[in-house]
Amino acid sequence: MDHRATTAWIDLAAIRANFRHLRDIAQGSIVCPVIKADAYGHGALAIAHELEREGAQFCSVALAKEALDLRESGIQMPLLIFGAPEHSSSSLAIRLGCAQTIYTEEHVRILASAAKSVGKKAKAHIKIDTGMNRQGLPWTKARSFAGLLADYPEIFVEGIYSHFADADSPDPSFTDLQMKRFSIALESFGRVGITPKYRHIANSAGMVLYPKTRLDMVRPGILLYGLRPAPNIELPEGFEPALTLTTGIVYIREVPAEESISYGRTFTTKRFSRIGLMPIGYADGYPRALSNRASVLIRGVRAPVVGRVCMDMTMIDLTGIAGARVGDEVLLFGGRTLPVSEISNLLSTIDYEVVCMISKRVPRVHIDSKPQEE
Ligand SMILES: Cc1ncc(COP(=O)(O)O)c(C=O)c1O
Repeated sequence: MDHRATTAWIDLAAIRANFRHLRDIAQGSIVCPVIKADAYGHGALAIAHELEREGAQFCSVALAKEALDLRESGIQMPLLIFGAPEHSSSSLAIRLGCAQTIYTEEHVRILASAAKSVGKKAKAHIKIDTGMNRQGLPWTKARSFAGLLADYPEIFVEGIYSHFADADSPDPSFTDLQMKRFSIALESFGRVGITPKYRHIANSAGMVLYPKTRLDMVRPGILLYGLRPAPNIELPEGFEPALTLTTGIVYIREVPAEESISYGRTFTTKRFSRIGLMPIGYADGYPRALSNRASVLIRGVRAPVVGRVCMDMTMIDLTGIAGARVGDEVLLFGGRTLPVSEISNLLSTIDYEVVCMISKRVPRVHIDSKPQEE
């Protein structure tokens, strides 16, 4: 076995099924999957090509660089960049037909000057802050921003959008408030003739839990990957986790009772033990905080992580697993038997972070568990 058996497997059949399910839920609203951060760790290029084959009409990313990489790999569908436009990348984004997010006077100037230099109108989506208080045009300032835009014919407003802060909460009141503020901002733009093709606000939780938030377009991320939008929400029916992280046992050491394992001696064997070595550590995105807490699956049986997770290696106790040997495959997390949610709960975090943490040195292998329908 290759010493680095550690691999993230991404099932494109699950991605396809999840996308179709999102499209059904969207009921005519355009689905703009969010594939930023390397498609939440799932490999953006492969995911984008799969979505394009599935007929996706739009995709969104955080950075201009992410959009440019997609174009370079041959992706042709419309792309929206969430991040603020920058002098260094704006012209290329325009040339490649990517829509850019604007919400300040500086963004407008950058986009307009880039558009002039390219000799092509810049597509823009105006981001409205309706309650995140992170980035975006304050919802009360729509009128003055519309006035500013009137002086920049180089900019074509293709969309206006906002982002929910609390759509996964059982209390709908803040989501309602954000919707109200967004409507007011849209009306202000509408009064001066800015009525873009795409008004959008819903993320995964919003589009599933609040049908009225779907508008012209929805921007689901986490549900495309078959993961939970929040720890308090079960994965809605019809979605399939796409990622599994596996490794292999590369070495087994027989250790007497009363011996300590790994740095800091945080685990001591209580009996004669068979300790398995896995070639994965915190540098791969298997966090040190899982030391002595997580378990893995071998031959359908759980084996606890023992001692501290190291940078490149982690140990597990194989004592109770009959026949466990070097070369056995180990499931670290993913799928339904050892879901990502188990790890995110152990780490008091969200599913998003667990999959985004899988580092670059772990190869992503895209498989297709079901042949594509004609
Ligand atoms: C602007 C924007 N829209 C949509 C999403 C997708 O959110 P989710 O993955 O919760 O569906 C994100 C993700 O953080 C985002 O930043």
